[in-house]
Amino acid sequence: MPPFTSHLFICGNQRAAGHPRGSCDACGTGALREAFKAELKRHNLGPLVRANGAGCLDQCEHGPVVVIYPQAIWYGRVQVDDVSRIVRETIIGGQILQDLLIPAEKLNCRG
Ligand code: FES
Repeated sequence: MPPFTSHLFICGNQRAAGHPRGSCDACGTGALREAFKAELKRHNLGPLVRANGAGCLDQCEHGPVVVIYPQAIWYGRVQVDDVSRIVRETIIGGQILQDLLIPAEKLNCRG
């Protein structure tokens, strides 16, 4: 079987209201993950591209957060309205969306 060309991890972490680190999916709907799955299906990208729900990716202050491997592209403040553009321009087109990119120097690397 060929390897994935891209594997997206979509944070769906939900914390109690008022938690200082917030929640990527405060309502617990999984809407962002479902939007990615639907858009990948619409473009017939499976099985080479996968979208999986993830727990906290430790970039909470930039949430909602999506990371794409193996390219290690971190996107923050991702909304459902961004999904088609991410799939079209990043996954298919190989372009990094600067308005969503979390710069490397802003990533938490607590080790
Ligand atoms: S809650 Fe989503 S990165 Fe931490």
